[in-house]
Amino acid sequence: MADHNEIAIQSELESQWARCEEIRSLLSQKLDHPPLAHVHSYGCQQNVADGEKIKGLLARCGYGFTGTAGEADLILYNTCAVRENAEDRVFGNVGALKKQKKENPDLIIGLCGCMMQQEHIAQKIKQSYPYVDLVFGTHALHQLPGMLYEALSRRQRVFNTAEGDGAIVEGLPVHRDGTLKAWLPIMRGCDNFCTYCIVPYVRGREHSRRPGQVLRELEELVQQGYKEITLLGQNVNSYGKGLDEQITFAGLLREIEKIPGDFRVRFMSSHPKDCTHELIDVMAQSRKLCPYLHLPVQSGSSRVLKAMNRHYDREQYLELVRYAREKIPGITLSSDIMVGFPGETYEDFQETMSLLREVRYDFLYTFIYSSRVGTRAAQMEDPISAEEKSRWFRELLSLQEQIGDERNSAMVGKTFRVLAEGEGKSGKGYLSGKSPGNITVEFKGPEELTGQFVDVRITRSMHWAVFGERV
Ligand code: SAH
Ligand code: SF4
Ligand code: F3S
Repeated sequence: MADHNEIAIQSELESQWARCEEIRSLLSQKLDHPPLAHVHSYGCQQNVADGEKIKGLLARCGYGFTGTAGEADLILYNTCAVRENAEDRVFGNVGALKKQKKENPDLIIGLCGCMMQQEHIAQKIKQSYPYVDLVFGTHALHQLPGMLYEALSRRQRVFNTAEGDGAIVEGLPVHRDGTLKAWLPIMRGCDNFCTYCIVPYVRGREHSRRPGQVLRELEELVQQGYKEITLLGQNVNSYGKGLDEQITFAGLLREIEKIPGDFRVRFMSSHPKDCTHELIDVMAQSRKLCPYLHLPVQSGSSRVLKAMNRHYDREQYLELVRYAREKIPGITLSSDIMVGFPGETYEDFQETMSLLREVRYDFLYTFIYSSRVGTRAAQMEDPISAEEKSRWFRELLSLQEQIGDERNSAMVGKTFRVLAEGEGKSGKGYLSGKSPGNITVEFKGPEELTGQFVDVRITRSMHWAVFGERV
């Protein structure tokens, strides 16, 4: 049953569709060519998935798409706020548009996404970047046609960065970037408030999509020929919380298992505090789920984990890893690691190093802590210098490089089912794809195999990929 909120959103969408038509006719009067938009998403896969909805809305307004900002009538950057360097990149790229706007005053420049949901950033754009026409946050995405119409017709700057509750808006069109692999958000927002993290502030509270909606979209994707579908959420393991239907993430995966077709499923991110044995059991029995688990640990020190508000300790984490390795032999494991959290000592950092040696991840996403305005960690004492943190970081990278190489070498002689995605880095005559564990595999084969699952026996390994032959 639809609740009040859902009915309100549906009627709001009706008015957005009307705006799409008005934009179409406005653009056909204004421009002597079909309108082109350049949309770029920074940050995580959820932001990329939002970017695909933005493109879906723009396509409905008549826009085609270009990868070149220089030839666009509309440039939209969908931003990420998770670390300072992500924000710096956006400011750099926006700064570079000033000249283009001067040459083409009809150009519409827009900024949206997580960064815009922060008051101090929206203010900075308002004051220091007068040539930015359109600014909206993560809660206003579905209102894009209305905002764009304002910007186009009234030639006024539009700011819409109000806080929202993060409620799910169903029924938005999606313009997907790929034809083989698709992102499928199953929830929005985050309730965890890890002390370093800005995401709960810029994305709002956690909301799960109804299982019926998720399953229907997945079925459609399979019918459209998508072969690999990644379920997305900041913490997929808490899927189902707050829904009328009684369902857990493991339960959703069991339903997905029943959908017929030749496709495979991944998911991310999995928060260790809510990762259950039941989930691992479901993975172990599944024929659809890849034997791959991204399980962000952040730190190997229980003391630091507590200060991060992660709600698990080193031992609990290692127990989960042991269980996963026992139930799913050969499982690929990856993680997020953060170096230099406020108050972290070299001894704490060494516990992260020893955890790496113990778990032996196949690959890692590694970050140096970056202070975020408004988070609890931003108030904590942070005595270690940036140079010192960089030294620790390099130590971490070099250890993981060695472990990753060993893990890749251990693939030699084994056969993996690879989804061929197209020409590889090795050049013509070679194809590239991912193993079930998300490792890049290159092999000789004709282009026609693109889009198919191919069994490849690994013959040698390198740093960034493994190489093999079709069997
Ligand atoms: N929801 C996911 C993580 C999303 S953000 C999870 O909890 O696993 C992706 C990664 O960015 C985090 O896992 C963390 O390692 C890193 N990160 C988040 N905030 C950060 C900050 N302030 N500084 C540095 N890295 C950060
Ligand atoms: Fe950030 Fe923690 Fe939420 Fe992940 S779980 S998005 S790290 S607050
Ligand atoms: Fe960045 Fe927002 Fe994702 S802050 S990591 S784009 S949720």
